[in-house]
Amino acid sequence: MLRSAIRPLAAVSRKPASSMFSTTPKRDMKILAILYDGGKAAEQEPRLLGTTENKLGLSEWLKSQGHEYIVSSDKEGPNSVFQKELKDAEVLITTPFHPGYLTKDLMDKAKNLKLCVTAGVGSDHIDLNAAVDNKVQVLEVTGSNVTSVAEHVVMSILLLVRNFVPAHEMIERGDWQVSEVARNAFDLEGKVVGTIGAGRIGYRVLQRLVPFGVKELLYYDYNPLPEHAAKEVGARRVEDLKDFVSQCDVVTVNTPLHEGTRGLINADLLKHFKKGAWLVNTARGAICDKDAVAQAVKSGHLNGYAGDVWNVQPAPKDHIWRTMKNPLGGGNGMVPHYSGTTLDAQARYANGVRSILENYFAGKPQDPANIIVGIGKYESKAYGQREDKQKTSHGFSKS
Ligand code: NAI
Repeated sequence: MLRSAIRPLAAVSRKPASSMFSTTPKRDMKILAILYDGGKAAEQEPRLLGTTENKLGLSEWLKSQGHEYIVSSDKEGPNSVFQKELKDAEVLITTPFHPGYLTKDLMDKAKNLKLCVTAGVGSDHIDLNAAVDNKVQVLEVTGSNVTSVAEHVVMSILLLVRNFVPAHEMIERGDWQVSEVARNAFDLEGKVVGTIGAGRIGYRVLQRLVPFGVKELLYYDYNPLPEHAAKEVGARRVEDLKDFVSQCDVVTVNTPLHEGTRGLINADLLKHFKKGAWLVNTARGAICDKDAVAQAVKSGHLNGYAGDVWNVQPAPKDHIWRTMKNPLGGGNGMVPHYSGTTLDAQARYANGVRSILENYFAGKPQDPANIIVGIGKYESKAYGQREDKQKTSHGFSKS
């Protein structure tokens, strides 16, 4: 994987140049973390590290380093802990599972903010263009949960294609009518499956689908896979999105959310899907138009939709994706946002956050793969095509 050399990031940004590469470890920093409440489960299960109770396992360490560490789930409105404490925080830790939405307005007011760390992967809840303008760095723990998500995608494809959810619900109800569920159950073998976005997750999905004997694997991505990687899984690139979706029986979405992907799957594009196709989105809810998807499922144009990401999180109780069904009463594989927060993943992203902070405190360079926005510019190539501002590698990585 190609990587450009990147200047050390730690302890830089809005400070004058003289203090930029100080080797004295920084102390007395205010670090704010917005995480989700884990309740009883988090008290019983200490490996639920991404919760307000277990605080990413960082409390004692940060205290011993002389820093103030504030952790809360309270994130909405001007009186929230998030908005109040952000004003003088130097480091903000957030999680995509309970996103603290860092808008331009909030960032402009957070005069001391220098570093945002996403505990996980996917930093769209931060206004990245504002981060560029304000010279606030945005890092995430790249790769920390990509296998977790890829497994969930494969599971979701299978549960839709095989009509699993209605079959299980029938059993719970005490019924037994095989034909009712078999009438809409298929094999994955022989189907065409395509991924929008063939980065770390998308590529892992392709790898995991090879043994299923699908008819063809396709991908759509402005960054082509390295030739050897495409060859290894036998994936063919389709450069036009409408052409791409019209060839797929199953489409899976694996791109970040940015200006170029918000609302990408809308009523117009859905017309080009094969009738009866299945759609799986574990990337970000807002990549799909909520109502257009619900309508397509209701009409049967989409045979099903599955995923764990929603346009607002937590999703309101009456969100149509909770209950939408195809004309045969199935086709809904929605769950709360958890595919990337298995206990295995939580250990990886908690460790990753700690090592980003260690580098920052010590003034050491960060792993370039973790940098979404560096000082005043995008370092990732995955958040849209920004020829003038970016310079690093394709998201593809087997590591
Ligand atoms: P990555 O950076 O390795 O790959 C993203 C790929 O999407 C890149 O190859 C990029 O070129 C491509 N892409 C970007 N914009 C595109 C567009 N308009 N059309 C086609 N391709 C485009 O990222 P990774 O690790 O694979 O993660 C992808 C996304 O998955 C994250 O940004 C996040 O939103 C989501 N995610 C969801 C999780 C969950 O728990 N549901 C957990 C982890 C990630």
